[in-house]
Amino acid sequence: MVKTIEYIDGKIRLIDQTKLPLVKEWIICEDYLQIAESIKKMHIRGAPAIGVAAAYGMALAAQNFRTQNINDFLKEIEKASMVLRESRPTAVNLFWAVERMVKLANESEIDCIEEIRKTMLEEAKKIEEEDANICRKIGEIGSEIIPAKATILTHCNAGALATADYGTALGVIRSAHKQGKDIHVFVDETRPYLQGARLTAWELMEEGINISLITDNMAGHFMSRGMIDIILVGADRISSNGDVANKIGTYSVAVLAKENQIPFYSVAPISTFDITLKAGYEIPIEERNPEEVTHIFGIQIAPTGVKVRNPSFDVTPNRYISGIITERGIIRPPYEENIRKVVC
Ligand code: MRU
Repeated sequence: MVKTIEYIDGKIRLIDQTKLPLVKEWIICEDYLQIAESIKKMHIRGAPAIGVAAAYGMALAAQNFRTQNINDFLKEIEKASMVLRESRPTAVNLFWAVERMVKLANESEIDCIEEIRKTMLEEAKKIEEEDANICRKIGEIGSEIIPAKATILTHCNAGALATADYGTALGVIRSAHKQGKDIHVFVDETRPYLQGARLTAWELMEEGINISLITDNMAGHFMSRGMIDIILVGADRISSNGDVANKIGTYSVAVLAKENQIPFYSVAPISTFDITLKAGYEIPIEERNPEEVTHIFGIQIAPTGVKVRNPSFDVTPNRYISGIITERGIIRPPYEENIRKVVC
């Protein structure tokens, strides 16, 4: 499995996900500004992975700001947190990780800045390690609901590339495959950014898992023919009532699943829940560059000057979701009540 993000000698190494699967190239970030830029440009993407990257961004800010004055240091930490928070708006893991790092710096009882720097780096490493372990746990729990022979549909990339390691939705698939289950995965290409075609297809093929790549508009056809047993997707933010924001197109998949009586599961760590939000309509939806729609790999496919909308995520209302697979178990309806019990 490729390593998505790594701390090496004071720097962060990321695999450039904009180049995969054709080119394997790494980016080295030496400061938090470069990390923020890499999140914005989607060199690194996927909710848990950008959380880990943001945590390392905070650790780099602490490491690089050479002052002996604690107030100046904390001001710089606050500044870095603002820049990282601005990098992408939807995935809550980013805000969760930045918050955890800011709190650590502010609540530290140590007044030696060098010690705080060390603790912040340890915390970022811990966030990375925790995420990798959580994904394995999620995989173990989720694999229990996968039949011995199953055709699974997935949308976007909720794999090792989208996390510190192993993946969420793809973690469940990995575990089921490792247990010897007979798995076939339909991979939605996931227009416009093609995370399915470029990343999920590559990741699963590397693992030797049997896949078929389809365009997004083919999913309903296969569902209506009884060819999909279960749907597994990731999540970028889950509100307290169980509405799930995930990659654009997830909502359509969920509605089609219900129409065809196919179980639809969202797979996410507890850090993806935002219990400050009552419902999905409160989740900020990122709108990205129109060129992602008008161009494919630099080639224009639409008339010059055409008006474009490019929301990067949509919200699937809880009524379409059979369950949310987390490291603490599978949360099922009634969501409001059960999320409170499991998450709080
Ligand atoms: O725009 P992206 O590629 O960051 O979107 C990623 C997704 O929507 C994933 O499904 C989600 O972050 C879960 S990743 C475990």
